[in-house]
Amino acid sequence: MFSFVLTNNYQEMSRVAARFIVKQVLQEEKSVLGLPTGETPKGVYTALVRLCREGVVNFSKVTTFNLDEYLGIDPDHRSSFYSYMREHFWDHVNLKRDRIHIPSSLPKDEKVECTRYEQLISQEGGLDLIVIGVGINGHIGFNEPGTPWGTLTHVCQLSTETRKREGARFQENDRSPERAITMGIKTIMHARKVLLFASGREKADILSEALLNAPTPNIPASVLQLHPCLTVIADRAAAEKSVKKPALKSFHTQESIQEFELI
Ligand code: GLP
Repeated sequence: MFSFVLTNNYQEMSRVAARFIVKQVLQEEKSVLGLPTGETPKGVYTALVRLCREGVVNFSKVTTFNLDEYLGIDPDHRSSFYSYMREHFWDHVNLKRDRIHIPSSLPKDEKVECTRYEQLISQEGGLDLIVIGVGINGHIGFNEPGTPWGTLTHVCQLSTETRKREGARFQENDRSPERAITMGIKTIMHARKVLLFASGREKADILSEALLNAPTPNIPASVLQLHPCLTVIADRAAAEKSVKKPALKSFHTQESIQEFELI
């Protein structure tokens, strides 16, 4: 069982997801958060930055771990997830630098880096909440189809499909990386709460496959069905194949979020 929150559009999805994250931090000021990158979270980060500036949320005691990072590019490369996070979130909120974590994109020893990252998450007491987007092929983090469910943080080979899509994040002269470090499926599933969000029609098929079909390693996101505390926030376009479409009331507060019947 999981909660499914249906929103009218991307902006509303972003605001509701941001409130969900803020609620976590208000409940536990020392929250440990797992954070994603990609197009989908940009609106969430914008909303979180605004809420932080307005004094609604204080990130000074929060610890964050990013889900993944490319391998083989400089952290300051314009397309690294490190740069993405600085641009969209880190540089605009009152997170403490020493509580921000992301896998190294140029580790001396890749295996050592994966173990270090996983151990750091454990030392912080594990993730209270992990926020996740979904790739078109169902990947979560960079756990591509077929990734075993027992995986911890590891080096992964990006699929041709993912590389093609990720290529859009890279400028013409930059070659998009072939490998990355990602939290594993087990790392993700160990988080106490999971928030999955999706927006747009291009995510409709994969979202319904991930949520409505039997969980399978071929659709990594489908494992999330087995998590005891999963919330899915999707806009109408992404949800069109997953939920019946009741007349939607627009809502303004976290409390008025409604749950919808799955198809
Ligand atoms: C990348 C990230 C994922 C993200 C996915 C979808 O591959 N590693 O964490 O969920 O992209 O991104 P988008 O939101 O751009 O569709």
